[in-house]
Amino acid sequence: MSYINENFLELQESYLFSTIAKKVAKYTEEHPDKEVIKLGIGDVTRPIPKACVEALHKAVDEMGTQEGFRGYGPEQGYEFLRKAIVENDYKARGIDIAEDEIFVSDGAKCDTGNIVDIFAKDNVVAITDPVYPVYLDTNVMAGRSGKFNSDEGTYQNIVYLPVTKENGFKPELPKQRVDMIYLCFPNNPTGTILKKDELKKWVDYAKANNSVILYDSAYEAFITENDVPHSIYEVEGAKDVAIEFRSFSKTAGFTGLRCGYVVIPKSVKGYSKEGKEAEYNKLWNRRTCTKFNGVAYIVQRAAEAVYSSEGQKQIRENINYYMENAKIIREGLEDAGIKYYGGLNAPYVWLEVPDGKTSWEFFDELLQESNVVGTPGSGFGPKGEGYFRLTAFGTKENTIKAMERIKRKGC
Ligand code: MLT
Repeated sequence: MSYINENFLELQESYLFSTIAKKVAKYTEEHPDKEVIKLGIGDVTRPIPKACVEALHKAVDEMGTQEGFRGYGPEQGYEFLRKAIVENDYKARGIDIAEDEIFVSDGAKCDTGNIVDIFAKDNVVAITDPVYPVYLDTNVMAGRSGKFNSDEGTYQNIVYLPVTKENGFKPELPKQRVDMIYLCFPNNPTGTILKKDELKKWVDYAKANNSVILYDSAYEAFITENDVPHSIYEVEGAKDVAIEFRSFSKTAGFTGLRCGYVVIPKSVKGYSKEGKEAEYNKLWNRRTCTKFNGVAYIVQRAAEAVYSSEGQKQIRENINYYMENAKIIREGLEDAGIKYYGGLNAPYVWLEVPDGKTSWEFFDELLQESNVVGTPGSGFGPKGEGYFRLTAFGTKENTIKAMERIKRKGC
């Protein structure tokens, strides 16, 4: 007999975005005449920038020649891409990160999920509430959560840090000691940000408590205001306590192509139960070499092209396009008299569900009456109840149409 990993039994229903996809598929099957606009999952709609497409073609051709053929690449990523990342994403911002502190991957979802491998099972995990569900679910799978309390909608051993309008969407430091802290800014799902001094208090907390911050900055390219940090390493001392996740998915339209990276400075240390210090960088490197054969060469060449001057220009055009959608959403909500947050430095707008309805009630109503799909806030955690997320990643035409429908609906 084989036994299952019983931690999986602790997971709640299906993964949020699969549940939504199923509901939408059912609705469209039953109403084939309806044109449903999807502003739910944050999947991009703009094509991959031309510079990346050209790099892909070139790399494919290379692979078909004897001289250009490549087999297994370095598990951590090709030097050309790690170098481009260091130069453009870090050195250009005055941050000193070494190439061997960068690990190229098939995306931030996998990285933020897989990182749990290198931490002890009894670490205490803190997440914001609401939160991108991957951080929580992967810790449940790893056995770090304890039992689910269905009255509260929370897990026994997880420390929840509310981010709601009451605290301006800024998580407060935990009252108890925690070991692993997940932060995502610009935030998914609320679209809100932390300023440098607000982030500094987390770095100080992590230093004082020997904790690690798992910082997801997948949406940094969408920051429009000047005084918002793009990387946690802009904060003094963060290199000793923070691991950072980045992605080409939203920045360069790679949701289907798959490429991201994680930064693990060698100065970020953990401890064995005997108190022996270990570099998380080494542990992750060991894990990567064992479980991963690297991202496809052609995809890494496409990612490298993001940093070319043409690539930069083209991704900026796409990002501006999405941020224009965010503006259309914000203005539409204002016209409809719906209170909202975010959408200024992030491609997500977080709205307050009108008339005291639950997030899922609003989801069903919007789907059925307006044929618009969003994401129910409660799917991101109990404190997301009463909120709803709209993504700016649709086409401009659909975004305009969706907002007209929402206004017409008269919330
Ligand atoms: C989201 O909608 O929150 C994201 O698209 C999910 C993801 O990036 O995996």
